[in-house]
Amino acid sequence: MKGAGWLERRLRRIGPMTVAEFMTEALHHRQSGYYAAGDPLGPGGDFVTAPEISQMFGELLGLWMVSAWTTQGAPPDAALVELGPGRGTLMADAARVMMAAGAGALVRTPHLVETSPVLRRAQAERLAHLEPVWHRDLSDVPDGPWFVIANEFLDALPIHQLVVRDGDWREVLVSARPDGDGLCWAVGRYPSALVGVLPEPLRLSREDGLIAEICPAAEHVVSDVAARISACGGAGLFVDYGAMRNARGATLQAVCGHRPVDPLDSPGHADLSSHVDFARLRECVAAAGSVMHGPVDQGRFLVELGIRERAAALGRGGDADRRIRVERDMARLIDPGQMGTLFKAAAILPRDQDTPPGFRA
Ligand SMILES: C[S@@+](CC[C@H](N)C(=O)[O-])C[C@H]1O[C@@H](n2cnc3c(N)ncnc32)[C@H](O)[C@@H]1O
Repeated sequence: MKGAGWLERRLRRIGPMTVAEFMTEALHHRQSGYYAAGDPLGPGGDFVTAPEISQMFGELLGLWMVSAWTTQGAPPDAALVELGPGRGTLMADAARVMMAAGAGALVRTPHLVETSPVLRRAQAERLAHLEPVWHRDLSDVPDGPWFVIANEFLDALPIHQLVVRDGDWREVLVSARPDGDGLCWAVGRYPSALVGVLPEPLRLSREDGLIAEICPAAEHVVSDVAARISACGGAGLFVDYGAMRNARGATLQAVCGHRPVDPLDSPGHADLSSHVDFARLRECVAAAGSVMHGPVDQGRFLVELGIRERAAALGRGGDADRRIRVERDMARLIDPGQMGTLFKAAAILPRDQDTPPGFRA
């Protein structure tokens, strides 16, 4: 255990903070935040993502974007945007196939929304053959149609947790332990105003101890993307873990060294994430004037896009070891017991567009 000292001292000074404030500090604090300090995806990192497992993931997402872009007449003022690009691997794999498919104009200047200085450096190295432009958020991405890719981005955004206590929904807080070292969970003294955004059956429930999560940051990002797509055209492709409806229960989790750990043990040293509530995001997309397709299981999505054919092509001409490796990597991405059903893909398109590849029944 690496300790919670830096955050504990702060909590003793200023008092308890919400789970969203805790996540923001633990992930993004300038010196001690998880994403500020290191590369969680690199060798010896804490977790592995789909693009780091196989080039097939980025390639298929890149082809999906080419299809969305050409279907909309290949607008010359379009911006390709990636949210949370990690080590730049997804974009590098997508760019290769996009160039080959004649979408060089779209991919030459990718707009990368990234807060971590360490990962920005990794992206610059990986994408040195392109002309990437970095942004802290979507507010200064240029006008025009946006074609947005995001893998495991929404799950990294801060959530609020609410709990039913004494008949009211109250905010879950993080506090310094009153009787010793370290951090502990606490509950707000008053009913929380956030109860108003809970979906109807849940909002009325008064079952003591019931927990609900909301992620205003994800709602904000998805609403921005959907509003832009509604106004100017474009497309969004979000892959993340979660469920169509995360009605109830706590999904906040911490991972360090590929193992689950207590989120309060070592803030800044463990990745924090939560399950994405796609039903809530679908409402945000509709309110912004666009349409969400899916979510569908990642496995089904990749199979429909042709991952089996791509794996066969990659294995062809290689030795037996290579074929086994490609098959194994594909299985990690699509098998129900691995990433195939836990992860979901959802697309955002203008209202007048047909159901896109990967989302047809
Ligand atoms: C779980 S990693 C996923 C990386 C990559 N998409 C992949 O699949 O390998 C989350 C990424 O989002 C970035 N990130 C997290 N919170 C962010 C925020 N609020 N704004 C911009 N980037 C953020 C992280 O630095 C990292 O690049």
